[in-house]
Amino acid sequence: MRFRQLLPALALAPALLALAGCDELLARTPGERLWRRHCADCHGIDASGNTPRYMGEHYADLRDNNWRTGGDRGSIENVVREGIFAKMPANEKLTSEEMRLLIDYLYELRGERG
Ligand code: HEC
Repeated sequence: MRFRQLLPALALAPALLALAGCDELLARTPGERLWRRHCADCHGIDASGNTPRYMGEHYADLRDNNWRTGGDRGSIENVVREGIFAKMPANEKLTSEEMRLLIDYLYELRGERG
């Protein structure tokens, strides 16, 4: 096959990866990647909590100012480390650097600086 014939396929590759559900690979920042890997299934890519699983749980919406625990760094970190019984898994293995990136990214999604 000639190189020129390959070009359209190369141009399509990112779109195909995204369609195949590999958009984690295309995520831009490490914080975004962590968010998608650990949190987005339940809280949504945009942190709105608007996922099939948690649409009715308003505390799963992390973009509003309606907190059960609190929106400051310390409270968020505690919840993420310990999880919430029967609702959210614990994340004991995240390093403190990963935690920082994750919370930075959450604040970014909220349109705030952490
Ligand atoms: C299995 C689903 C699930 C996953 C995965 C998950 N969460 Fe949650 N999370 C929930 C639910 C449901 C709630 C609301 C529980 C409640 O009613 O208090 C919640 C609550 C929270 C809260 C507390 C909100 C408040 O109002 O105080 C924070 C902060 C949070 N999640 C952050 C995260 C982060 C960051 C991640 C990724 C590391 C994550 N969650 C992963 C389901 C999940």
